[in-house]
Amino acid sequence: MSMTIPNTSNYADPAPLKDGVLEHEWHPACSAAELQQKPLSVIVLGERVAVYRTSRGVHALRDLCVHRGAMLSKGWVENDRDLVCPYHGWKYDADGKCVCIPAQGKDDRIPPRARAVKYQAREKYGIVWVCIGEPAAELPDFAEFETAEYRPLVCGPYRVNAAGTRVIENFTDFAHLMYVHGGLLGHPDYAELPDFEVYREEGRVYTGDVPIFQPVAHSGSEHAEGTTYVYVKEVFRPLAARLSKRDAATGQTLWIMLTVLPVSEKECLVYMPVSRNYAFDVDDQSFIDFQDTVFEQDKWIIETQKPELLPLDLQAELNHKADKLSVAYRKWIAGMGMRTCMA
Ligand code: FES
Ligand code: CO
Repeated sequence: MSMTIPNTSNYADPAPLKDGVLEHEWHPACSAAELQQKPLSVIVLGERVAVYRTSRGVHALRDLCVHRGAMLSKGWVENDRDLVCPYHGWKYDADGKCVCIPAQGKDDRIPPRARAVKYQAREKYGIVWVCIGEPAAELPDFAEFETAEYRPLVCGPYRVNAAGTRVIENFTDFAHLMYVHGGLLGHPDYAELPDFEVYREEGRVYTGDVPIFQPVAHSGSEHAEGTTYVYVKEVFRPLAARLSKRDAATGQTLWIMLTVLPVSEKECLVYMPVSRNYAFDVDDQSFIDFQDTVFEQDKWIIETQKPELLPLDLQAELNHKADKLSVAYRKWIAGMGMRTCMA
């Protein structure tokens, strides 16, 4: 009787998606609240990463035990220090060094190659951030999330079957508010956009003030009443952006940071730290529910867009003056040489 020889290549993880830019970015791995005692496994650019917490902070290792390839994230943290592989109990310190092999005597030497790959990890804005390369920049600045005058919360994660750059571009867009979010963030009867400025500086592209009228939504009305909100949008990393939305009359402002974890070329998870300087007495959950609804509407469009990778050739699609920020974003990332876009 012949024996079938298993083909182990089927078991390998997909090759990590290094595109020369994104591996050097900080990506949101999970929400800080989600990461408690138990380690978590996340996929960053096709690479499985184990994230875990000790009293010294958050840590990240490649989610692969060098001994027999078990997932370290399925193990546990011992003595508030070491990550233990669940298969044969090898223990790794926060630098990825194996510090204990239970099957050998105490005096036996631990082979120097017994190491897991260590990645940088940080906790900020209610998010655990991971970089699987050499960080090209500091973590994004979001002061409104950290000061007592504001009320922070984290929305998401939202799973999107699309390229992260398509999600960022959607976030830079104004003209869809009246359509995709019609009745919620705008109305087709008030779709005309004012002229607005776009600025480019080292490390960011952003708009001047963009006032948008949002009529009160009730059926049969002439939409005479409503509120003018002043938006400012900014992209500051290839996969991170923010906006502020200020009620022109009262100064009440909502800040949203949108940050994307690229799982693969055409799959991502979106985390949104949000902050506000009003309605502190309103239940946070109702803000989260609202953002969930808004994002669901965006996702529905983004997942259908073609081509799936963002086209960087400015002739490839039709740019309108309302797309100024999107064009600036495309030009900016084209200059970075990101390979996960259409040339
Ligand atoms: Fe991890 Fe053996 S596979 S200890
Ligand atoms: Co939208």
